[in-house]
Amino acid sequence: METKKPILIDGRIIAKEIKKELAQEVSALLDGGKRPPHLVAVIVGEDGASLSYVASKEKQSREIGFTSSVYRFPETLTEAELLKTVDFLNEDPEVDGFIVQLPLPKHIDEQKIIERINPRKDVDGFHPTNGGRMMYNMPSFVPATPMGIMNLLNRSGVETVGKNCVIVGRSNIVGTPMAILMSRNNAQANSTVTLCHSKTKNIKEVCANADILIVAIGKPEFIKEDMVKEGAAVIDVGIHRIDDSTKEKGYRIVGDVDFENVSKKCSYITPVPGGVGPMTIVSLLQNTLKAYKNEIYID
Ligand code: GUN
Repeated sequence: METKKPILIDGRIIAKEIKKELAQEVSALLDGGKRPPHLVAVIVGEDGASLSYVASKEKQSREIGFTSSVYRFPETLTEAELLKTVDFLNEDPEVDGFIVQLPLPKHIDEQKIIERINPRKDVDGFHPTNGGRMMYNMPSFVPATPMGIMNLLNRSGVETVGKNCVIVGRSNIVGTPMAILMSRNNAQANSTVTLCHSKTKNIKEVCANADILIVAIGKPEFIKEDMVKEGAAVIDVGIHRIDDSTKEKGYRIVGDVDFENVSKKCSYITPVPGGVGPMTIVSLLQNTLKAYKNEIYID
């Protein structure tokens, strides 16, 4: 059988497109005499992945004309001190949105910090008020990864209306909000959604029935060819570093999907890296512009 090549959903290109649109909007604001939107990131400690993520947020914010600040604190910062910083940012009229980079050191209660953030400035969409508003189809800040996936699907022309969408993984920040978004009654979604998790029976058969398969389970190459329907659209949220002595660096990067084999039978697929990853910071920038324009919470 001749294998057809799938369409690669290129997150780098789509992210660039959206950033260009955002930059044009910011430029128009500045031309009109307005101040630029201001995004703040708070980071506690020296976690390598967090430091590079925050550096990328800062760089990309500036590229599109936002003001960007980073508040850096040592690992020893107390919970009370971090709460004070959140209060300060909540009150600062020059700050449109901010995020507290996770994970936080163990002596700080993450949920307590998240709940202290003013939902109007919660551009991560992690505050329960935003989660609740999303559930009830009210305007809300949507977490970056599911928002980025909606953009990838819609901008790549993947048909969603009336399709079977299977989501693997039910985390608070990806799988659960993704299920809500894909089941929404609108032209960008309107899918029939199944949310799979560790207790799902016959996961192989369930996945093989998906027209759209979104995988965020955190297991390298978990989704094999026999779990995917011919012609499905496959979105891979996973990112893992696997030891590989045949590579110069000694490792390779893989997702939650066995890309090489699955790509032989699907119609669309996101690569790892370069698929979902580049979209997350762009979503944060989109949310910050919404915060600036008071689009979510109307006074
Ligand atoms: N750590 C990893 N991803 C994220 C994110 O999107 N937001 C925050 N605040 N922390 C993270």
